Amino acid sequence: MQRAYIVNLPKFLDYRGNLSFVQELDHIPFKIQRTYWIYDVPGGENRGGHAYKNTNEFIIAISGCFDVIVDYGITKEKFTLNRSYYGLFIPKGVWRTIENFSTNSFALEFADTEYDRNDYIEDYSMYLNMKNNGEI
Ligand code: TYD
Repeated sequence: MQRAYIVNLPKFLDYRGNLSFVQELDHIPFKIQRTYWIYDVPGGENRGGHAYKNTNEFIIAISGCFDVIVDYGITKEKFTLNRSYYGLFIPKGVWRTIENFSTNSFALEFADTEYDRNDYIEDYSMYLNMKNNGEI
């Protein structure tokens, strides 16, 4: 089973301010098909709470911070994204939730598929069944 992992992105610290960047097939280990972002999340709200059958993703906290909970079915891992030079790769087939958004946080997400609701698994017990049956 592939696990999620943090990628330390390049950072250029300068008296004029800092700069970081990502390149596909390099820091992001896939070809980018889609980019979306989450912002203006009211205090206490969670996002996600689903798995993708076929989508790999990569998340950066461009500003602020939040926690990404990655649930492999039996074990869970929490990644706190609190620097804009951290990226989190999340492989397809894992349940993930994003929570504890700070004020003004901005989550930038890259995916290797076009948007397709049929790729979502939104029911946790269905996710566990599919995992146990080796369907994902
Ligand atoms: P959703 O994936 O449910 O948000 P989250 O998982 O962060 O809670 O998406 C919310 C809405 O945005 C939903 O109506 C579908 C739409 N959407 C798109 O149209 N394209 C996209 O690439 C994404 C991620 C969402």
